[in-house]
Amino acid sequence: MKTIVEPFRIKVVEPFRITTPEERVRILAAAHHNLFLVRAEDVMIDLLTDSGTGAMSAQQWAAIQTGDESYAGSRSFHELEAVVRELTGYAHVFPVHQGRAAERILFGALVGRGQAVPNNAHFDTTRANVEFLGAEALDFVAPAARDLAAGVAWKGNMDVAALETWLAEQPPGRVPLGLLTITNNRVGGQPVSMPNLRAVSALYRRHGIPFFLDAARFAENAWWIHRLDPEWRDVPLPEVARAMFALADGCLVSAKKDGLVNIGGLLCLNDARLAARVRDLLILGEGFPTYGGLAGRDLAALAQGLREVLDPDYLRYREASAQYLAERLARLGVPIVRPFGLHAVYLDARAFLPHVPPSELPGQALACALYEQGGIRSVEIGTLMFGRTDPVTGQPIPADHDLVRLCLPRRVYTQSHVDWVIESLGELLARRDSIRGLALVEEAPFLRAFTARLRPLDSVAGSGERARSLTLVGG
Ligand code: F0G
Repeated sequence: MKTIVEPFRIKVVEPFRITTPEERVRILAAAHHNLFLVRAEDVMIDLLTDSGTGAMSAQQWAAIQTGDESYAGSRSFHELEAVVRELTGYAHVFPVHQGRAAERILFGALVGRGQAVPNNAHFDTTRANVEFLGAEALDFVAPAARDLAAGVAWKGNMDVAALETWLAEQPPGRVPLGLLTITNNRVGGQPVSMPNLRAVSALYRRHGIPFFLDAARFAENAWWIHRLDPEWRDVPLPEVARAMFALADGCLVSAKKDGLVNIGGLLCLNDARLAARVRDLLILGEGFPTYGGLAGRDLAALAQGLREVLDPDYLRYREASAQYLAERLARLGVPIVRPFGLHAVYLDARAFLPHVPPSELPGQALACALYEQGGIRSVEIGTLMFGRTDPVTGQPIPADHDLVRLCLPRRVYTQSHVDWVIESLGELLARRDSIRGLALVEEAPFLRAFTARLRPLDSVAGSGERARSLTLVGG
């Protein structure tokens, strides 16, 4: 059999409303062409994120019923701690309400003004949490990742040679910790290879720099290592994961991804002195260390989610669904980032909309058009999210790429939902010349993509000229 079936049955359904294109045009205008401002009930297929949007299993719901809500020493915490210790090998396990809380606490304990934190590529909250402390967040993206269409493996890797050169130039004390994000969300959800993990680990160790994994999608990274690296082909997935964790001194985890829960996170580490500082900051901002901003039932669901996520049948199905979407889009001629990631398929909006220059936000324009076409919510990962406005000239500074991410929530959508997405993009491709660029009307100084207000440029022809003459804020 070639078909890889979903390895679950559906016990509970959540109906969504089928909207019309006319309704969606109105809804999008009212939301200022920002899909974060659209109500979820006005979305048919929500591919905004794979974060906190998965479906829990019957076993997780059962664990919810028996979660221990004690303030201190909850049984659910001790269960979670045992599962996480076995999975990662780390001595100290701190639950937090989500990934960025782990970032705030760890960086709060280690990072200060004037320092610098390297990573293969920082996710936006990770970067913001480093920069908020007056430090610099540096990306060392593998050179292979620059060519979006090249289907080469391990594009998520750290550029170890560049990191090595840079580290050699840094004065002592400048780098308080080093990160590596698995899988690399900023770079199309691409995995990091085991040799790269080893090389990064050795380099940080040589410089005496504590090494932390941003391990939101650790199971998906482990799956690719198991699938693509002959050394790990016959090794059970928990052992692959354990080997990745063993190379670092700790990890930050947004459990809303591979924890298979709707809320939660983890900060894990070995160093007892650092753990004491983390504990203090945790109590200050999140809660007592045995619940860390979560309910006991959340801890119980997470422990069960972590038991389920390394099931090879689940990960095989996950690969099959991403592959199905990616291959069919490619066949239609939709420009996609290759190879596809497990958590998302990324569209190259600059290639899809060659008539829309980066200053007119082609990623956001494509994401908006996809919503109008099929009620599908995606997310722009490009100039709106990562570009900036030059404070001196007022001119937009584009991001390296303008992508649209079609995220795949875990265990939520079926193949016919994916077919709807494919057909919608096929329709858009056929009328792509009619898709207009956008102008920013309002933006916040940090993480502007979440709240920005935008408006479509008047017409396709000549819109480039008009955009250049606009001042971005209030334009
Ligand atoms: N690190 C990575 C690699 C992430 O992808 C995310 C979140 C975080 C950290 C922060 O975790 O949301 O639990 O606070 N990524 C989501 C996304 C939001 O849509 O990719 P959080």
